[in-house]
Amino acid sequence: MKDITNIVVLTGAGISAESGLATFRGPGGLWEGHRVEDVCTPEALARDAALVHRFYDARRAALGGVVPNAAHDALARLDRDWPGELLIVTQNVDDLHERAGARRMLHMHGELNSALCAACDARRPWTGSLPPGTSCDGCGAPALRPDIVFFGEMPYQMDTIDRALATCDLFVSIGTSGAVYPAAGFVQTARYHGAATLELNLEPSAGSGWFGETRLGPASELVPAWVDQMLGA
Ligand code: APR
Repeated sequence: MKDITNIVVLTGAGISAESGLATFRGPGGLWEGHRVEDVCTPEALARDAALVHRFYDARRAALGGVVPNAAHDALARLDRDWPGELLIVTQNVDDLHERAGARRMLHMHGELNSALCAACDARRPWTGSLPPGTSCDGCGAPALRPDIVFFGEMPYQMDTIDRALATCDLFVSIGTSGAVYPAAGFVQTARYHGAATLELNLEPSAGSGWFGETRLGPASELVPAWVDQMLGA
């Protein structure tokens, strides 16, 4: 690969699959058991907040039973040892990247372990169940909701992401189906700005045709091997 200094990594549910967290699409996926319209839209929250909160309470509780896998550990090693710029953009709302030790990262779709006040936009760490009507300790409004970006809402920190994509030399996508924008378009943006592009995925994705290289296999094998390659191990 040409001289690589700045790297952007995008991760999706596939990187957490081998830790035991369900992906969204495919056999046993979360969207098989729930309609997006019922648990992941602003309208769903307005219509049946109890169902929406229960859905995320269950996913938050599941975090206690899982641990980072070799793919999360390898990205944390890259974060620690890579001398150039690195930004890990995760679509995932689990905390496995952080628990593996990643620091140069952001959650573009929010985080299960955070509550958002719909009245004042304050955020606070949240690990237990979050009943609808829980009051914000900042503004007092009974308006705490899961800090999750619902369909139809704007993903977080897009300015940071766009700047990183415009200046990266390498864009790597790991464990995502390429089904949801804007994340699915990041490879095109990176290519437009001249970056090399690499996809690491269990199977071809909707975006595979845009990548300079696609490696197929489990993330727990592909990601450590790629990090070794980058660090010259
Ligand atoms: N290793 C690598 N890739 C894997 C593995 C694995 N062990 N297991 C599954 N995958 C791949 C699948 O082949 C699929 O391409 O991970 C991808 C998971 O795709 P999705 O379930 O669609 O998850 P994701 O791409 O993260 O979804 C994007 O959609 O519903 C919204 O907000 C939600 O952030 C999510 C977004």
